[in-house]
Amino acid sequence: MPLLKPMLVVLGLSLNATAFAATHIQLDSSSQGAVINKNIYGQFAEHLGRGIYEGLWVGPDSSIPNTKGWRNDVLGALKALHVPLIRWPGGCFADEYHWRDGIGPRDKRPVKVNTNWGGVEEDNAVGTHEFFDLVELLGAEAYVNGNLGTGTPQEMAEWLEYMTAEGKSTLAELRRKNGREQPFKVHYFAVGNEAWGCGGNMTPEFYTHLYKQYTTFLKTPTHNTPKWIASGGHSEDTSWAEYLTTNVKQKMDAVSFHYYTLPTGQWDVKGAALKFPESEWISTMARTLAMDGFIRNNKAVMDKLDPGKKVGFYVDEWGTWYDVEKGENPGFLYQQNSLRDAVVAALNFHIFHQHADRVRMTNIAQMVNVLQAMILTDKEKMLLTPTYHAYRMYVPFQDATAVPLKLSGVPEYRLAGVSVPAISATAARTKNGELYLGLVNLHPTQAESADIHLAGITIQHVSGQLLTANQMDAHNTFEKPHAIEPKAFSAEGKNGRLTIELPAKSVLVVKVQ
Ligand code: AHR
Repeated sequence: MPLLKPMLVVLGLSLNATAFAATHIQLDSSSQGAVINKNIYGQFAEHLGRGIYEGLWVGPDSSIPNTKGWRNDVLGALKALHVPLIRWPGGCFADEYHWRDGIGPRDKRPVKVNTNWGGVEEDNAVGTHEFFDLVELLGAEAYVNGNLGTGTPQEMAEWLEYMTAEGKSTLAELRRKNGREQPFKVHYFAVGNEAWGCGGNMTPEFYTHLYKQYTTFLKTPTHNTPKWIASGGHSEDTSWAEYLTTNVKQKMDAVSFHYYTLPTGQWDVKGAALKFPESEWISTMARTLAMDGFIRNNKAVMDKLDPGKKVGFYVDEWGTWYDVEKGENPGFLYQQNSLRDAVVAALNFHIFHQHADRVRMTNIAQMVNVLQAMILTDKEKMLLTPTYHAYRMYVPFQDATAVPLKLSGVPEYRLAGVSVPAISATAARTKNGELYLGLVNLHPTQAESADIHLAGITIQHVSGQLLTANQMDAHNTFEKPHAIEPKAFSAEGKNGRLTIELPAKSVLVVKVQ
């Protein structure tokens, strides 16, 4: 305790270990990294559990205050995240979604079975028009995921025509009849999802042929052409990025990639969201940091085939995946969210920033009530998760330019044969010249110090927000929705040197002045 600043005492944190030698962080603001595309902070909303129905959509006649059926409390919270884009309608759901089921009067839409997620009834209340209301209400961009698995090239082509046609085509007139005069702006369009699994159990070769066939027929007005996304691989597999980048020479702006963090690494028993042992804290950290290697390997393959970096690498599903909460439908993937998830989110942001030259979009799974969510709801109640707070703290990094940094003297955190670096850092300069620094101390019991140096400049002052708590699984509940929230943080430079004391298990974002 003696080495820690009084500020931490003010925050009421009991720190159970002292800081040792400081990590040295050297920022080089004279050289520029890549632009951190705001879409790295993208979201994903699938027809899954209470992710859309209840979590976001309550319908215009609900007693829960809403705008065009979308709940106002959730919209308000999401606005503060500057959500840059939303991927919809899946996920696995996308490859069984037929867009015609989701247009026209809602009481006339067919009721289907959501065979992927819990076998529940899907009444198609949320369809194309409702989705675009959501993205437009949030000022976000639309990422529509097409159905390759059970659809046809004709169905996919007609959906795009319905959304984007301007003239008097029957589909444009149908869209107008359904209430939308102007075309929708489709920023991104993906051809299938997880083609290696729920999307059809295909090989990269088979999918690539289908991708070329389908995209041949996907046509839009030239000023409303989406970026085309091919469904790629997952985890350590680089064969999808390799095969697609080698063989698709047009109409492919990005290859997608999925990776989930499971504490145990096992799908049958993944680990609990709360009340987990420290061995599952460190394994979660190690499995999160594995994202860096997966991206590096895919980038290495793509850099050889596409040195101009024309094709993006979009991590359009990532996040923690725990055992579903007791009493919940196992197909709903509902899980609590703790300080551990905020640390996981921040570590991933740092990795994505480092690879921002190729990683120009990522979508955490998922926005509300599903997996590593921003928001949890219980009917009319809503809470913001620690992951939400991490997203909010990192808003200044959206569209900022990465500032290269060098870390030395980083302590290792070791437990049960696993070892990870305890400190992670990122820095970026915003469009209006402000310099931001993000820091994570992922050690759950050891506070750490970081000396910050900025070549040629004396740092006077840093200020921002710190997210931490005493417990590894600190979380918000509907009874105590503010149990864990970021707190104001500041530190002053002295004699040309600035040392930041990072509490155990903390995420810090500061503006450097
Ligand atoms: O995000 C949940 C599911 O995980 C998605 O539907 C699927 O693409 C992935 O396997």
